Amino acid sequence: METRHNFGSKIGAVLASAGSAVGLGNVWRFPTEVGNNGGAAFIFIYLICIALIGIPVMMSEFLIGRHTHANTISAFAKLAPGKWWRIEGVAGVFVAFLILSYYIVISGWTLFYLIESVAGRLQAGRNYSDVFNNFVSDPWLPVLTGTAFMGLTHFIISRGVQSGIERFSKVMMPMLLFIIGILVICSFSMPGSSEGLRFLLKPDLSKLTASVILSAVGQAFYSLSLAMGCLCTYASYFRADANLPKTAAGVSIIDTLVAILSGFIIFPAVFSVEEVSVDAGPGLVFITLPSVFNIAFEHVAWLGYIFSGFFYLLLLLAALTSAMSLHESVTAYVLEAFSISRRKAATAVSVSCMLLGVLCSLSFGILGDVKLFGMNVFELFDYTSSKIILPIGGIIICLFTGWYLDRRLVESELTNNGRLRFRLFRLYYFIIRYVAPLAIAAVFLQEIVS
Ligand code: TRP
Repeated sequence: METRHNFGSKIGAVLASAGSAVGLGNVWRFPTEVGNNGGAAFIFIYLICIALIGIPVMMSEFLIGRHTHANTISAFAKLAPGKWWRIEGVAGVFVAFLILSYYIVISGWTLFYLIESVAGRLQAGRNYSDVFNNFVSDPWLPVLTGTAFMGLTHFIISRGVQSGIERFSKVMMPMLLFIIGILVICSFSMPGSSEGLRFLLKPDLSKLTASVILSAVGQAFYSLSLAMGCLCTYASYFRADANLPKTAAGVSIIDTLVAILSGFIIFPAVFSVEEVSVDAGPGLVFITLPSVFNIAFEHVAWLGYIFSGFFYLLLLLAALTSAMSLHESVTAYVLEAFSISRRKAATAVSVSCMLLGVLCSLSFGILGDVKLFGMNVFELFDYTSSKIILPIGGIIICLFTGWYLDRRLVESELTNNGRLRFRLFRLYYFIIRYVAPLAIAAVFLQEIVS
């Protein structure tokens, strides 16, 4: 069996974890949720959820991973030998696999749109709704782009923790932040963008209903990559001197900044063009935005070219660093459980995941009529993983750290055996025992009922 590596530097650990968190959830799902849930009021609640629930739950995942130095399944088995808690580890790895299989499909679309926009084919004044629908229902092309994307992820994961995940995160994350900066400036400079800014900055508190609050909790979990062992796996590569509370805060701040800045990129642009109707879901990024680029930059085509090329590159980088973390949590398990080489483990994961991915991809076309519980394959994977297993996993992690683990172990892990000061420990402990599990239970019940 290969020796277990750690991340070589603290900044590498932060950037890799931030890479896991920053993904399609920030650039694509967050703006959609903001649009559906009343703009600034949603953002306000979202920030509270990140600070109050997201960061403490992330700290719990970190401490489980770093304490055990093992993949998610072994981590739970080590801390609670012979107990049913290990189901959480199993569910985490299983769900990471499921999510990865559909995540690569959307990431493949992103790759296609990047190629199209670099080739100048998104500026041609086409009917973007047709472009999108023809592409996703094609039996070959999306499978091909999804496979190419999986190939990229595979390449990085098989190179290992330091020379794969860490090295690439250190390059891709700064690039991603730089691109966001450029796009925000581009978007603000569009005429009529102030309408979009007003929407993002002026909270209409009458829009704050229970369901908006619950959507914010759900989005916070999804965006921070919580409850599925991804961050637990990454934390198993943290060094003994990593400051877990600080790392969790840093990762959450980067993730939240990217989400909010994505809103600042998309809404001023969308609002600056009146004749485009705002589409929710995949349509916002793949149908509405190309139309916006096209109309807004009618007279300065090269600017539209740059804007759209950078935008899809941003989406691709964000998707890639998240897919890496999903892949790694499964690969780490396969590699350690079967004592095989990293290369072999990664290949087994990539190939089997790709087979499922093909099914997901085809569910937008020829398999569109194959339905279970009224959902096609893609919807079924998305629904069971993010709406059922993720919230349950979140509750279990809270109960595990708050009620099962010895309080001294938790405190010593968060303070590196008393070497660091962590003044908010009692607040953290209270949240993890009571506030977080109850809040997540509320989200879960609401989603199940509705
Ligand atoms: N956080 C990523 C995003 O925003 C998606 C993701 C990666 C994820 N790993 C996860 C979501 C684990 C839930 C659990 O797109």
